[in-house]
Amino acid sequence: MAKTNRATFGSKLGVILASAGSAVGLGNIWRFPYKTGNNGGAAFILIYLGCIFILGLPIMISEFLIGRHSHANTAGAYRILAPGTQWKWVGRLGVLTGFLILSYYSVVAGWTLEYIIEAVTNSFSGKTPEEFVASFETFSNSSWRPVMWLILFLLATHFVIVRGVEKGIEKSAKIMMPTLFILIVILAICSISLPGAGPGIEFLLKPDFGKVTSGVFLSAMGQAFFSLSLGMGCLSTYASYFGKNTNLTRTAFSVGIIDTLIAVMAGFIIFPAAFSVNIQPDAGPSLIFITLPNVFRKAFSGLPVLAYLFSVLFYVLLALAALTSTISMHEVVTAYLHEEYKMTRGRAAKVVTAACIILGIFCALSSQIFDLFDYVTAKIMLPFGGLFISLFTGWYLDKKIVKDEITNGGTIKYSFYKSITFVLKYIAPIAITLILINELGFLK
Ligand code: PFF
Repeated sequence: MAKTNRATFGSKLGVILASAGSAVGLGNIWRFPYKTGNNGGAAFILIYLGCIFILGLPIMISEFLIGRHSHANTAGAYRILAPGTQWKWVGRLGVLTGFLILSYYSVVAGWTLEYIIEAVTNSFSGKTPEEFVASFETFSNSSWRPVMWLILFLLATHFVIVRGVEKGIEKSAKIMMPTLFILIVILAICSISLPGAGPGIEFLLKPDFGKVTSGVFLSAMGQAFFSLSLGMGCLSTYASYFGKNTNLTRTAFSVGIIDTLIAVMAGFIIFPAAFSVNIQPDAGPSLIFITLPNVFRKAFSGLPVLAYLFSVLFYVLLALAALTSTISMHEVVTAYLHEEYKMTRGRAAKVVTAACIILGIFCALSSQIFDLFDYVTAKIMLPFGGLFISLFTGWYLDKKIVKDEITNGGTIKYSFYKSITFVLKYIAPIAITLILINELGFLK
């Protein structure tokens, strides 16, 4: 196996920030706000938080231990930990999911590049909210621009992948993540203090359980898995580069907290601003591309230089946050082809990039294909991935391995081993199955 020359992340902080770099991305700043908007606001957020902390973290720890113990890509991990069984299909499902998500995710990542150019050329200034809506529509309906940005974004991802992931990711994550965090805090404060922000804040804080349907549960669970990069072996691939002293429980907890904070703060940027300019919260995927330029324009109306700086910085950071996530998805598929089919890393990366460009073009040109990919991956493939991962660790995998990994050979005192395995054995499989059955109508 590729055990011998496997790299490891250099420091504890590097491990946390690289994993957080995978988790934090468009899922937090683009997808979470519009899913919250489509699913009624605060009640959705509460269910989402439950999914993150009750289901998400134990499944994350499960992915971590599968990756670290096997030292292999996600499909190889099941082959090593469960030789001669059908569990290998869980890894393969993960690789396919990563590939599909990467294809449509890169389309949105490409949109951020268009908005960097708009910000740099100062074309937000003087536009009305209606003009922001119209210019987003003109851009996304044009055929060549979104395709061009998609290709550029995938090439940037490719560039980092072929240079080796650890140094690039670890280093850039250490600079980018704190900067992104500070910027988001400042923007959230600006947005909350806009005139007319009140209804937006209420939308985020006042749950209306009358709007909760089984669909809301599935959306919240899908969003939680998507946002934490769970259910497709991404974090297990990263964990195959963890050192043996990494505390898996603590790392998962840190990643979960960072990811949740950024998503909730993104909500506090978008909704107060959207309500203050009368933009509907259920505008869908275009939401951040319409409301954010408005925030910059309104929040800094007397200070054009600040408005300019903030908008440029924000879209640059958004693109970089997306990049650390696309790298992690690309890595899942590249590591799989490299290790399982004995391709060189460079060749494997080329195959992945080329195939994603082709699929991505379909997603960029057809909103139906884009929506289909989003639905099938987040609402079917990731929950099934999460279900199988919890069953694998909860029921199949040797308890000694699980305990050893979670407690680092008995050296960690408070590892929550018992609670984690209880969730993986009973709570997660039952909850995920019920939510899937309810929404997908298997029993109807
Ligand atoms: N978690 C990323 C985000 O929130 O943007 C998206 C993602 C990355 C999903 C990696 C799945 C994955 F394996």
